[in-house]
Amino acid sequence: MDAIDILVNEHRHIERVMDLLGWAVEHGRGGGEVSPVLFERAAHFLLTFVDGSHDAKEGEVFQAITARGVPLGEGVVAALSAQHEVGREIAGELREVARAVMRGEKEPEEQYALAERYVRLHRGHTESEESRFFPMVRRLLPVDAMERVRAKFARIEAAHGSLGEAADALELAFPVPATAVRRPGNVRAQPWIGR
Ligand SMILES: [Fe+2]
Ligand SMILES: [Fe+2]
Repeated sequence: MDAIDILVNEHRHIERVMDLLGWAVEHGRGGGEVSPVLFERAAHFLLTFVDGSHDAKEGEVFQAITARGVPLGEGVVAALSAQHEVGREIAGELREVARAVMRGEKEPEEQYALAERYVRLHRGHTESEESRFFPMVRRLLPVDAMERVRAKFARIEAAHGSLGEAADALELAFPVPATAVRRPGNVRAQPWIGR
């Protein structure tokens, strides 16, 4: 497994949290009860594990690419970095708004709108990375450079813990009916009542 495989694997874990958020938004807007705790905990995941760990790892890839002085790489890196920044801002706002909803100071719709914006941004961003950026990294970075990047990933991982396990913990805390992700319109249960 090289550095890019690790990032792609993390995308799959992050997508589970995107699915959870997408379902929570749809369920809440459809009149179901969704605890703001779900959004607060999801925002914590986005800040700690997506921004703090996954995006930080990609930052190491950006540096490695930029160091090779490829102009095309720099343009792509700037665009992706800017999206990381926007994602961090939305996640921070989502955490604040979810806390305000808990205190009864804001309407749930505000957290739904932020969560929806984040999910949309993240899906497009991931698609760009996997279809364009990662193949370019594999072409441009020789094996030894890729190995050095991977060694830096290990340090980031040690500081933050496992992203996959954090996604597992969120799914366990807020279980979504198995049919819901495949068919979001099929609302049968309200698993978050009383949380
Ligand atoms: Fe990224
Ligand atoms: Fe990514």
